[in-house]
Amino acid sequence: MCGIVAYVGPRDARDVIVDALGRMEYRGYDSSGLAVADSGRVEVCKRAGKLANLTDLIEQVGPETLSGHTGIGHTRWATHGRPTDANAHPHVSADGKAAIVHNGIIENSAVLRDELTAQGVELASDTDSEVACHLLAREFNQGDNKGDFLASVLSVINRLEGAFTLLFMHADRPGEIIAARRSTPLIVGVGDGEMFLGSDVAAFIEFTRHAVELTQDSVVRITADGHEIMDFTGRAITGRDFTIDWDLAAAEKGGYDSFMLKEIHEQPAAVRDTLAGHFDGNRVLLDEQNLTGADMRSFDKVYVVACGSAYHSGLLAKYAIEHWVRLPVEIEVASEFRYRDPVLDSRTLVVAVSQSGETADTLEAVRHAKEQGAKVLAVCNTNGAQIPREADAVLYTHAGPEIGVASTKAFLAQVAANYIVGLALAQERGTKYPDEIREIWAELEAIPAKIEALLTCEQQCLDIARGLGAIRTMLFLGRGVGFPVALEGALKLKELAYIHAEGFPAGELKHGPIALIEDDLPVVVVVPSPRGVKVLHSKIVSNIQEIRARGAKTIVIAEQGDDAVEPYANWLIRIPQTSSIMQPLLATVPLQFLAAEIARQCGNEDIDKPRNLAKSVTVE
Ligand code: F6R
Repeated sequence: MCGIVAYVGPRDARDVIVDALGRMEYRGYDSSGLAVADSGRVEVCKRAGKLANLTDLIEQVGPETLSGHTGIGHTRWATHGRPTDANAHPHVSADGKAAIVHNGIIENSAVLRDELTAQGVELASDTDSEVACHLLAREFNQGDNKGDFLASVLSVINRLEGAFTLLFMHADRPGEIIAARRSTPLIVGVGDGEMFLGSDVAAFIEFTRHAVELTQDSVVRITADGHEIMDFTGRAITGRDFTIDWDLAAAEKGGYDSFMLKEIHEQPAAVRDTLAGHFDGNRVLLDEQNLTGADMRSFDKVYVVACGSAYHSGLLAKYAIEHWVRLPVEIEVASEFRYRDPVLDSRTLVVAVSQSGETADTLEAVRHAKEQGAKVLAVCNTNGAQIPREADAVLYTHAGPEIGVASTKAFLAQVAANYIVGLALAQERGTKYPDEIREIWAELEAIPAKIEALLTCEQQCLDIARGLGAIRTMLFLGRGVGFPVALEGALKLKELAYIHAEGFPAGELKHGPIALIEDDLPVVVVVPSPRGVKVLHSKIVSNIQEIRARGAKTIVIAEQGDDAVEPYANWLIRIPQTSSIMQPLLATVPLQFLAAEIARQCGNEDIDKPRNLAKSVTVE
């Protein structure tokens, strides 16, 4: 959801900002823009559409414009106002001197617009954000705060309601940028004689590994020489310094056509790195000790809250925890959770799963759970993000940066992390013997090599996708842990190929959805291992026959050696053998390849940036 960046230092701000926007475009790509300030003027360039439109415009206006050493930039995921040039950020005050970029939603913008309009200010956009630059200009140009940049910014932010990260720049204060954050992300990058701000570290990873994380309601003022952090009253506070542990290559495509394909291929490492350090040969270890053994033993219920793919990983947590721990688990879409008044108390463990750690729906669910006295464990891929900060404990997935908007490696890492949580609970509560835990861990540890072997199915998936012809709708069926895999496969196809797709438990088909089956309808079936619950396997074989009899074309995902399915598969994708509970970590992979290639066949070349989506959804 909107990416923002700021730079102050000796380099050409335009170049630094355009590069940074390229790395943050996954956060939103409805429009982009930048503003550069130098010697008493602010120059702005902005354009609707993808970043390429902005770079074309910059080329047209020529390199002499936008030259300077202080700048701010923005890539937008539209909330208020359509994705037009006028609604693109930065927004500039009527005197042309104050410029802002914004991520979030200013909830009282209508009142502030009315106030400004009554004072004769003409607003140029439909956005909620624009009010901030006019308020800044008013404060800076008149009254008690006249000429005082910091005091003017503090006065403005204290009038705003909602969630925001705002970057403020003023032509009369070149060499200085002030930023404020409330509930949306902002990280400071500390360089040598230069300073950066970004929605995430991708903004400045090229230049520095030294970053500072800001707490809620922080203001930061940067100049080339350093930074000061304060609260919304201007009182000095501190942030948390950290070292960025991934490099520029991780944020670049590394020879693949898309980030998504690169990230699919990174899945063995994502799962391996997520498991690393969590088992010492005898015991499963969680990262943080804020959740004590006594806590783990005291829980009488688990809720998993998450959105989208993270929610699908949570469904798998339910299967694993109920099976291993015999503890009831409810899984809920985070956006529904707090409005439903769920029954929570100090004996409830809430597991909040989020790749970004920023998702507003999940964050609000976490806050609600904590208010009700529940303990919250975050499963998160982003160091220091808001959700892990507010949770009681955190288990980090180590998938590395995920740039493709459709989640792939982060999803598999979430499944692995959820299984670690399940095993830690089983160990603490004694529902599994140590040798059983060792055995399950060994299966988990074998998964990365099996994914590696499975990646060779890419070519087969491309061939299948090409052989399918035009598709209007596609169904995905699974049973047991295959059901969340079916949901995930359908979600990938919807978001990448813009094709109607639905996932069902295969047994539910005959209760309605079977009416959708018609000649040549492609149906993916995720087949459980015949070595697992026998009856489940034979039932799904019957389900495949039922749909084939009605004309469907079946793409069957089945483990090596499962001969029973062969006669009923139009296409058969083989996955390595593993235990039933681990199968989703493998069966998901071909569905990712299929979705990516079907998207291409449908003419959607840019699978990293599906329409209407953004990577981090920081609004509810
Ligand atoms: C789907 C996808 C989304 C996210 C969801 C939650 O491919 O990426 O459904 O899984 O928006 O995001 P996080 O995990 O950042 O909370």
